[in-house]
Amino acid sequence: MRIETFRYTERLGAVLLRDVQKIIELDSGMEDQDTDEARGVLKISEPIIHDMQKQMAIVIPTKNEKLRLFENCISGVPHECLKIIVSNSDKSPINRFELEKETLQQFCEFSKRRAIIVHQKDPVISRALQEAGYDDLLDEQGIVRDGKAEGMIIGILLTKFFNKNYLGFIDADNYFPGTVLEYARAYAAGLHIAKYEQCMVRILWRYKPKIHEQGLYFKKWGRVSEITNRCLNSLISFVSGFETDVIKTGNAGEHAMALSLAESIPYASGYAIEPQELLSLFEEYGDIPHLGNHKNGFKGIEILQIETRNPHLHENKGQEHINNMLLSSLGSIYHSDVCPEETKNLILEELQRQGLLNLGDEPPRPKLIKAPKEIDFEKFKEIVGENIDRFIIK
Ligand code: GDP
Ligand code: CO
Repeated sequence: MRIETFRYTERLGAVLLRDVQKIIELDSGMEDQDTDEARGVLKISEPIIHDMQKQMAIVIPTKNEKLRLFENCISGVPHECLKIIVSNSDKSPINRFELEKETLQQFCEFSKRRAIIVHQKDPVISRALQEAGYDDLLDEQGIVRDGKAEGMIIGILLTKFFNKNYLGFIDADNYFPGTVLEYARAYAAGLHIAKYEQCMVRILWRYKPKIHEQGLYFKKWGRVSEITNRCLNSLISFVSGFETDVIKTGNAGEHAMALSLAESIPYASGYAIEPQELLSLFEEYGDIPHLGNHKNGFKGIEILQIETRNPHLHENKGQEHINNMLLSSLGSIYHSDVCPEETKNLILEELQRQGLLNLGDEPPRPKLIKAPKEIDFEKFKEIVGENIDRFIIK
């Protein structure tokens, strides 16, 4: 792969936010280095990409997606990555989870690869979390709650269980398997070129095609992401005193991390998880004067934003879904300890203008989930390990 080098970095304490890097070439061949590489271009050879992917799990959270899309998605994940599917699909009246399992089974048989599939509400997972002291994911009955974040965090714990060093998330509602392949390649390349061990790669889609009367229109920004990015940038601008537009991936569902970083971030429930990852890092390592937080010393935490070549086309989940997403994203920013007054006002104005908030009300406060490193991992491993066969498809 060839990718643009880092041009510009915004810093908030120990958190380094790299500006968007575009993919120049999807496959740049086997050779490590060209002697006459153009300036401003990084080359990541195929052996390096494959080596990174061997150390990587791809976590796919899914809930009642069309089986065809689910199958598309798994077929696009590179062979070397460990596939971990965390499903919250219905078991009745149709057992959709069983259908997903069956689809995965067939795929594994033909592709000669094993994969992991768990239901989010599997009693073994819930018991393991409970006994390992991680009840932030559980409801009053002691079962894992609904929510995409809840599924993603189970994916992080399973990545650790299977001794992988990196993990990347990919949504299951993707129409093009080729995009999935590109995400996994961008993850490998990005995590490889990062300068610090604690790193994250967030994907920016080139386009998100929409159907218009005149035909296809290749839209660049979604409404939710445009507003979330604006509010996150406002937060960074007012905290640092220098206006910036560095954040372009506030809602990136597609993102990858070193396991060491994934384990150490406090998350938020449901759809607030993606912006909350950034907020948690600012809260902990952003060197914000009134929080006195500079725990990481000189060790950097690095966030890369990589723009794909493929356009992204996923399921249209309707206006209510979009509204919920906007409310929970802006709610997480609004309630963060690092959020300045100016940004709070911007959020209130925006939500009132969209008709999602009454005058005098505040957006919802996200439910926070403590960092996965807080779990008694040996206990979790013991209980999951005793039952691991039920999750492995060979
Ligand atoms: P959007 O693409 O960000 O608008 O949101 P989606 O509704 O497409 O969700 C992103 C991914 O998370 C999709 O693959 C969903 O199937 C999956 N997802 C949504 N809710 C849940 C859940 O409660 N549990 C799990 N495990 N996955 C979920
Ligand atoms: Co989607």
